[in-house]
Amino acid sequence: MPNIVVVGTQWGDEGKGKVVDVITPHVNVVVRYQGGNNAGHTVVVGREKYVLHSIPSGILHPHCRCVIGCGVVVDPASLIQEMEALVQRGVTLDGSLFISKNAHLIMPYHPALDRASEAKLGSRRIGTTGKGVGPAYVDKAARVGIRMADLLDERLFREKLEINLAQKNRILREIYDAQSFNIEEILNPYLRFAGWLAPYITDTALLLHRWIESGYSVLFEGAQATMLDIDHGTYPFVTSSNPVAGAACVGAGVGPRDIQEIWGVAKAYTTRVGAGPFPTELHDETGEEIRRRGGEFGTTTGRPRRTGWMDLVALKYAARLNTLSGLVVTKLDVFSGFDRIRVATRYRSQEEATFDRFPYHQSVLHHAVGEYDELPGWREDLADCRTPSDLPVNARDYLRFISEAVDVPITLIGVGPGREQVVWGDAVPEQFAPERQAA
Ligand code: IMP
Repeated sequence: MPNIVVVGTQWGDEGKGKVVDVITPHVNVVVRYQGGNNAGHTVVVGREKYVLHSIPSGILHPHCRCVIGCGVVVDPASLIQEMEALVQRGVTLDGSLFISKNAHLIMPYHPALDRASEAKLGSRRIGTTGKGVGPAYVDKAARVGIRMADLLDERLFREKLEINLAQKNRILREIYDAQSFNIEEILNPYLRFAGWLAPYITDTALLLHRWIESGYSVLFEGAQATMLDIDHGTYPFVTSSNPVAGAACVGAGVGPRDIQEIWGVAKAYTTRVGAGPFPTELHDETGEEIRRRGGEFGTTTGRPRRTGWMDLVALKYAARLNTLSGLVVTKLDVFSGFDRIRVATRYRSQEEATFDRFPYHQSVLHHAVGEYDELPGWREDLADCRTPSDLPVNARDYLRFISEAVDVPITLIGVGPGREQVVWGDAVPEQFAPERQAA
């Protein structure tokens, strides 16, 4: 069975959670490989709506094992809240959830530093989720981070916490004029968390190796997205990890030869939360209409998302960086009733230069605007479409236009929020669409 990465191709919120949920019946394991509780996945199962931040959405499938890989930064308070909410709704975690011993912890001073830094940046702020993800990765790179395994050794945990607090408190007080922490207010709850989490903490890289060797199929779930990647995204308006598919190996602890399929997820339009360049952004009624119809408000922060047309310059860039084997287009239904749909195929710079490649310089990108091709829309509601031929001809033409431009076949199309509201594309490998095999 192939192993597959599901990666966002835009600025996040493409609906990866739902895509993972749809593919999960065909895999044995789902692994989150980066990010933290800055992510938010909403999955609708029947009438139940689940919002997940750190736990892979595969957890809603009883057969599936879920792993939080070493590349993830974990806020234990938030994770435990999520775990408790799942348990209360009858989801089994024992034997289903595995947390890497090497995953770094988000400590209470990380969100404090995140918010203080954003406040200090003022109009230059990044617009982070304020969850402390950036400062936790800073500590990881500075080699002073505290990891899951440290939670299980009280003496070591206290020692690392003392060293960190001495430094963080000075930064908070003296640079940011913010409140400092005392050790007991962190130590006591974190030792309680340790008791809660201990049964789940393990060497997940070793487990994955064994599972893959025994023929299990693994889905690697990316959080955030390519354009928010710290190396390849719109730096500095990015997250502090690598969402790109290549990072799945590092963040899970597998090798590149363990991955066969890479599916990129794009919304039929584009959204972005937080600050930073967005060449196809709409500031008019159409943008408002997309926000309203698409319910484009942040899962984690509730912030209204910025909205715009599909950006094929960015999508081509994402297809190349991730070596996509399949493209998933979500929320196609949002466009029903639009007379015309625009798609950016090029950018125009401040100096009126036109280009179809993603610009390498930040200053060019900041002033780039989309140049558009216009396609006819459709009036039909897509909610009940289940095969490509159920889709209106103009919707199919829209998809074909995107797929041809990026040279990646479409494997899956989202036509509504429900689990069943998907259309498998013609290019989906048989393993992931057994319904079609049976037909
Ligand atoms: P941070 O990851 O909280 O540091 O935020 C950095 C940037 O990434 C900000 O623009 C956030 O809005 C954005 N971001 C982080 N997580 C997500 C996500 O899950 N979806 C969309 N944007 C995100």
